[in-house]
Amino acid sequence: MRTRPIEGAPSLGLDNASLALDYERISATRQFEAGKLLVSDLGIGPGERVLDVGCGTGLLACHIAELVGREGRVLGIDPLPLRIGLASSRARDNLTFEVGDAYDLDRLPDNSFDVVVLNAVFHWLPEKTGPLLSFGRLLRPGGRIGISTQLKGDLTQLQQILRTVLAEPPFDRYPRIRESITFRVGADELRALFQTTGFLPVRIEVRESERQHPSAEAAVRFTEASSFGNVFGHLPPELKDPARERVRKALGAVAEADGSIVVNTHRLVAIGERR
Ligand SMILES: C[S@@+](CC[C@H](N)C(=O)[O-])C[C@H]1O[C@@H](n2cnc3c(N)ncnc32)[C@H](O)[C@@H]1O
Repeated sequence: MRTRPIEGAPSLGLDNASLALDYERISATRQFEAGKLLVSDLGIGPGERVLDVGCGTGLLACHIAELVGREGRVLGIDPLPLRIGLASSRARDNLTFEVGDAYDLDRLPDNSFDVVVLNAVFHWLPEKTGPLLSFGRLLRPGGRIGISTQLKGDLTQLQQILRTVLAEPPFDRYPRIRESITFRVGADELRALFQTTGFLPVRIEVRESERQHPSAEAAVRFTEASSFGNVFGHLPPELKDPARERVRKALGAVAEADGSIVVNTHRLVAIGERR
């Protein structure tokens, strides 16, 4: 359970229908691709019971439902009702979606899952121990957890530009409580978190990836949709468009000849086994 608000925690109240639809479209070639690799690393097979935490619009959960087949089942949970609304159109006999939060899983029974998946979610959790203990309770002994997440200290060019722009006038009049909107960990930190919450670290590695946005505009939309509105969430409404414009302009200066934006990134990928 989340006992008290954590300073700088991402807001879950900034999402809107357009961001949710953008996420559905844009994640298909980004988070979904990374998610399929994570699922393959987890070796999910027929008959397994899988919890997809922070499932977003449900693309990955749907892929997992195909792997577990009719004898298995997948539950996707996400705290954003609009994203669960889109995900629900994918629901079927072995695939259900519910609004739910990693900090509030008490209603789910002990040992009720074989696998817990968090794809592009762990860095959004301000406090990690509580959720990891809950995932351990939900997993049967020997069950697996798979995490693919942003790596601490790895700032993409897009993220650096965002920071620079937001530190300039007039945006600097509205500083965030924390400079970063995410709560990332490094490999050693995640290994230690696994060990203190009852997981055997089976595999922990950093993977490089390159993604391309077709334009500066698309890159800005991606960052807003995947942060469910948090990237400019601290600014007053009248400064959001000027901030978007300033970021687009700065991205234009580093764009490829065809206007596309290349983003090189590192992901932390971890598989743990419940002791
Ligand atoms: C970048 S999206 C990833 C969505 C999906 N897992 C995918 O692979 O496309 C991050 C998701 O984390 C969810 N999230 C944020 N805080 C959460 C929390 N406390 N518990 C569960 N999910 C959370 C957000 O609502 C959002 O849908």
